[in-house]
Amino acid sequence: MIRTMFTIAAIALGASIAVADQDPVAARRALMKANGDEAKIGVAMMKGETPFDLAKAQKMFATFEDAAQKMPALFPETSKTGGDTAARLEIWQNMDDFRARFDKFAVDAEAAKVSVKDLDSFKAAFNAIGKNDCGGCHEKYRVKKS
Ligand code: HEC
Repeated sequence: MIRTMFTIAAIALGASIAVADQDPVAARRALMKANGDEAKIGVAMMKGETPFDLAKAQKMFATFEDAAQKMPALFPETSKTGGDTAARLEIWQNMDDFRARFDKFAVDAEAAKVSVKDLDSFKAAFNAIGKNDCGGCHEKYRVKKS
């Protein structure tokens, strides 16, 4: 429900900035949750639980790219705490590195949209993004919740 409202609000306003001004923590968590939902579909395809589907893979990489472009604006100084955030304070101490990681994430997702043609090329691209982009950033900048 809340997520549906967020999505509709974002479409209606046509500007994620407006949403970000209101609640950057909720906005960045929603973008990341979308990444996680897409990645689950990717994992299922990789394991052979669902058949490889190029359209789904393309949508996944497009979601990643979109998130990578929007995320850097969602970490103002005022958003270090609150909203049950799992962001570590290291983000604000290393903002250049943090932002550069999102740039790389966007480039990798964009490249994957072009390079992925079949299950093998999907596995290669998805593994690399999962390890280097998602995993690398979470390791350094996200509080482990369990
Ligand atoms: C450059 C850094 C960075 C990259 C790249 C990144 N994340 Fe995240 N991710 C974060 C941070 C920081 C948080 C915590 C945000 C918060 O709680 O304020 C997070 C949170 C999450 C969450 C929890 C969302 C929630 O419900 O609160 C999921 C799921 C997630 N990321 C999935 C992914 C996946 C999948 C990828 C790769 C496809 C990815 N992330 C790439 C930094 C990153």
